[in-house]
Amino acid sequence: MTTFTITMPRALDLIAALEFPAKLPAPVDCKILIFDFKSSSLIEPFAMLMISSEISRYMHEHQDVEFKCSNYMHMSYAGHMGFFKSFGLDFGKSPGEANGSSRYVPLTIYSTSDIEKSAASKGIEIGDEVETISQQLSYTLCHIKEGILFDTLSYSIREIMRNVVEHSAASRFGICAQYWPSKNKAEVAIFDRGIGIKKSLSQNPHIDASDDKRSLNYALMPAVSGKAFKGSRVKQKGHWANSGFGLYMTNRICRNGGTFFICSGDTGMLLTKKSNAKRYFSTNLHGTAVRMVLKTDQLSSLKEALDTYKNEGYEIQKRYKEIINIDPSSASLMLSTDFDLSIWGKILAALKLRN
Ligand SMILES: Nc1ncnc2c1ncn2[C@@H]1O[C@H](COP(=O)(O)OP(=O)(O)OP(=O)(O)O)[C@@H](O)[C@H]1O
Ligand SMILES: [Mg+2]
Repeated sequence: MTTFTITMPRALDLIAALEFPAKLPAPVDCKILIFDFKSSSLIEPFAMLMISSEISRYMHEHQDVEFKCSNYMHMSYAGHMGFFKSFGLDFGKSPGEANGSSRYVPLTIYSTSDIEKSAASKGIEIGDEVETISQQLSYTLCHIKEGILFDTLSYSIREIMRNVVEHSAASRFGICAQYWPSKNKAEVAIFDRGIGIKKSLSQNPHIDASDDKRSLNYALMPAVSGKAFKGSRVKQKGHWANSGFGLYMTNRICRNGGTFFICSGDTGMLLTKKSNAKRYFSTNLHGTAVRMVLKTDQLSSLKEALDTYKNEGYEIQKRYKEIINIDPSSASLMLSTDFDLSIWGKILAALKLRN
């Protein structure tokens, strides 16, 4: 009988979360699998969601393997956040159980059909229901119901959560978040095991969503959507009609000092504001995961930020037309850089449309 031990790293952060699936052993020889937390002292919301979901998935797929955790008793924060109970270890609280009175949202699983049913029973649109949930979560994190931080968190959570409900086809999704006032930092993670960005975007015939990397880049462009496009048979109306701006706006808001990470399929993409703004990671996720890190002392008024980004987004969208309806060859040039008007000249020069 083979016992396999995975020593969990000291910091369970973004990188550790992305590296974790590859550490899981091939099941053939493994009869007992032990997760050893003796070196771990830090755990972040995204890592909690991703690692617990991976452990649950692996346990479900390999029911003949016995699972154990060792040296975890000092991980009281993770326990309180519902990390251990989410994959069946009786330590700490269950997912969603902690009351979240201390500026965190514990690991919480939402059912998309419950959100839809709740909206229907109130006679409101699903987008309104998602907005209400996002505002509650934002309030849990920042303890006030107005102001730049409340507005920005509500907006960002709402856009990512709407995407799960509107595009992922997942029946459930997870969320976990923490605000650290002394560090002027907040992290929000949202994770689904739905169809992923590539499959969802491939409904749009104007773009080449043939691989995960391209698809992620397209999804972040202003006015690019898997539902709203020229010639789409589904005509959307009303306040929550898709326009392809959610990920574009949210990533720009986060990058005001913070970072935006999204992964789907075999690609993860970390965006910051610096010149080396884009970093790719190899992943293996059936679904979509987003991690937003906000520098809370560097946020500007949400309304002003949204107005600026929206205007720039429309301007960029208009200019797509200068280079033929985002055809794959010109798009690939744009995909290699960021959607900022200041780089437009460079794109045209590269396409030899301007010196
Ligand atoms: N969780 C997800 N699962 C599957 N596909 C997704 C997910 N999130 C985003 N997408 C894909 O990325 C596209 C772009 O998302 P984005 O939020 O920018 O625009 P939108 O949702 O179409 O429109 P808007 O946000 O303006 O209502 C979506 O249309 C969808 O195809
Ligand atoms: Mg959206």
